[in-house]
Amino acid sequence: KMTEVAVLVGSLRRASLNRKLALALRDLAPEGLKLDIVEIGDLPMYNQDLDEAPPEAWVAFRERIAHSDAVLFVTPEYNRSVPAVLKNAIDVGSRPYGHSVWNGKPGAIVSASPGAIGGFGANHHLRQSLVFLNVPTLQQPEAYLGGADRLFDEQGRIANPDTAAFLTGFLQAFERWARTNPRL
Ligand code: FNR
Repeated sequence: KMTEVAVLVGSLRRASLNRKLALALRDLAPEGLKLDIVEIGDLPMYNQDLDEAPPEAWVAFRERIAHSDAVLFVTPEYNRSVPAVLKNAIDVGSRPYGHSVWNGKPGAIVSASPGAIGGFGANHHLRQSLVFLNVPTLQQPEAYLGGADRLFDEQGRIANPDTAAFLTGFLQAFERWARTNPRL
């Protein structure tokens, strides 16, 4: 059986390096791992008042995550933390209380930045939420991609063969991780 992965990209801009990276990862993924980007830019900001009659976009998002086998976060770092749009998606999926779609869902994180630190701050702030949400998150290998503006060739593929090999290994580890930590 295929492992269906919901990919959440923490940037909304058209030319996003992280979106490009998510697409490159999709192409590098092993046969049993199917990566699909789930859009998060149209989710209304979480507001508990709306839980009684939730916006359609929230309902569709929660169902989409609930039906995926695993979740992969591909994110930039904003001010040493998680971009608000991604945090909002996490918050939306975590409610109503007791009905979080994250509970037990295996996950992994790739962070990328043109800077040298590779989004380490965002990567680890994200882990803090995922501990609480009971998302068993791949520990190794870690993926902090610095110099992300130089990652891609003209076709949007990972230009450096060593980086491509590293990411292929990351995805293989994630596939094993998702299979040994099946969603509840
Ligand atoms: C950034 N950027 C950034 N980079 C970084 O390495 N650490 C940081 O804390 C921040 N903070 C930050 C805040 C805000 C509001 C913006 C818009 C940007 C730069 C960021 O890494 C760069 O713009 C990336 O290209 C964003 O990712 P996408 O959109 O290309 O996927």
